[in-house]
Amino acid sequence: MRFDGKVGLVTGAASGIGRATAIGFAQRGGSVIVADYSGTRARAVAQEITASGGRAEAIKADVTAAADLQAAVDLACSRFGRLDFLHNNAYSYPKGIAGSALGETADETWQHHLNVGITAVMRGTRAALAVMVKQRSGAIVNTASISGVLADYHNAPYNAVKAAVINFTRVVALEYARDGIRCNCVCPGVTETPPIRVMLGRPNARQAAEEAIPMRRLGRPEEIANVVLFLASDLASFVTGAAVVADGGQTLHTRNFF
Ligand SMILES: NC(=O)c1ccc[n+]([C@@H]2O[C@H](COP(=O)([O-])OP(=O)(O)OC[C@H]3O[C@@H](n4cnc5c(N)ncnc54)[C@H](O)[C@@H]3O)[C@@H](O)[C@H]2O)c1
Repeated sequence: MRFDGKVGLVTGAASGIGRATAIGFAQRGGSVIVADYSGTRARAVAQEITASGGRAEAIKADVTAAADLQAAVDLACSRFGRLDFLHNNAYSYPKGIAGSALGETADETWQHHLNVGITAVMRGTRAALAVMVKQRSGAIVNTASISGVLADYHNAPYNAVKAAVINFTRVVALEYARDGIRCNCVCPGVTETPPIRVMLGRPNARQAAEEAIPMRRLGRPEEIANVVLFLASDLASFVTGAAVVADGGQTLHTRNFF
């Protein structure tokens, strides 16, 4: 799997799955825009890539700001001349607010999730399509979640938004197939990234997570990035509209106990 001559843009690339995707894309010959609303951490990832001989450029970009997304797409074109791959990946919960029962979920919390989780994905896709349609080629990969396939307790906005990402992916795949553009998504299970590590710090949380996963371990960011990169690559040239689950088997079982 190689990306020589290809240009990628990864949002939320300063950490976790996005960071692993940006690094993996560059290691395989691609040039990458490392976009994150933490400019400092985005620059650190871009430096890590360039220090090991790769091509990367950082941009401080908040995906909830349409102008920032456009600036990131523009940077790919001005710095590297084209855009072959977009990974819509950034996500954050509202500061200090984890899950809550639907009855206690404020409108502001709901709106935050819509903004970062689906409106940003639509705007990023729309900005990238403007370039990719002219090129008559491109691959978009969205980070959905197993929480977009099944339901969690106390996580309604996230569940709704990630389900929306899966069907939005299909719409883009359908509408742009004839333009040479593919759009797919990955549905990660529990993956050991900084926000998950915080949750795993709670009593018995790691044990409970591992017990829910048939492989009896959490995913690594690189294992999710590998799926993203496959979907971005020419190896997936006939794959579009897919939602690929990578969860160690977590969503395989009914949880029946007999
Ligand atoms: N880790 C998991 O278990 C898991 C499971 C399923 C899906 N996901 C999804 O994977 C994606 C990446 O999550 P992660 O676990 O790697 O988290 P992470 O916190 O390690 O990385 C997310 C990055 O996004 C950035 N970000 C947040 N809001 C942003 C914004 N508005 N604009 C720009 N950048 C922003 C953060 O600064 C961070 O660097 C998310 O879409 C998440 O929903 C994660």
